[in-house]
Amino acid sequence: MDIVICKSKEQASYMVAAYIDRAIRKNPRTVLGLATGSTPILMYKELIRRHKECGLDFSQVHSWNLDEYLGLEGTHPASYRYFMNEQLFDHINIDKANTHVPDGMATDYEAAAAAYEEGIRADGGIDIQVLGIGSDGHIGFNEPATSLSSRTHVQTLMLGTRQDNARLFFGGDLAAVPTRAITMGTGTVLDSRVAILLAFGKGKAPAIAGAVEGAISHMNQASALQLHRDAKFFIDEEAASLLKHADFYKAVYADSDLRSLEA
Ligand code: PGA
Repeated sequence: MDIVICKSKEQASYMVAAYIDRAIRKNPRTVLGLATGSTPILMYKELIRRHKECGLDFSQVHSWNLDEYLGLEGTHPASYRYFMNEQLFDHINIDKANTHVPDGMATDYEAAAAAYEEGIRADGGIDIQVLGIGSDGHIGFNEPATSLSSRTHVQTLMLGTRQDNARLFFGGDLAAVPTRAITMGTGTVLDSRVAILLAFGKGKAPAIAGAVEGAISHMNQASALQLHRDAKFFIDEEAASLLKHADFYKAVYADSDLRSLEA
């Protein structure tokens, strides 16, 4: 994996947006896998700026989001469909018909999950999957002990995950946070051509250390990215603070083409 330790979350967000910008200019029909949460917001802002100021054209881009809470309509302000519209889709020229978020209101979950998988396949597969990481190492909503080869499925959320996300529900109402979600599986994520994980802050340092330097384990789902053909971690100094070999990763980076993404 490529481990890019950035001086700030602003720099990491800028570099990932620049990477996606390049990919879209090269292949206008790029299929993006997208993530929600606090982490990708600055990166989405930079994509919006590039659309408005630099002619970045999303008209042929397709997208598939990682996950959605069960029981939330797309109009619910804490739903991930709502988040994506607000943080990205409403500000760029993507065709919303080509944007996909799992259906939190599906009644037949298994059919909805299978249809999501089939949809991704029929769309040509995900070119670039954007990921955050939970403090428990989750990617998407794949919690500890989920199969590392899992496909899209319904997932019961850990209490800690619901506590982490409660801030987005009416200012911290834990009881309002759904107990389950529909999420791409870790196996689905591993099928992406490129996986880009963003992580910022000290709270993510243990999960990042486990993912990068720990053994591959279903207790840290992001550690499965060690098996990904092209995984790139863009993290700030705080998130990198528990990495034993940070100096080595910096030396590798200094020799890499990824430096050309810097502002
Ligand atoms: P966050 O969530 O970006 O809000 O920290 C990340 C995640 O849970 O995957």
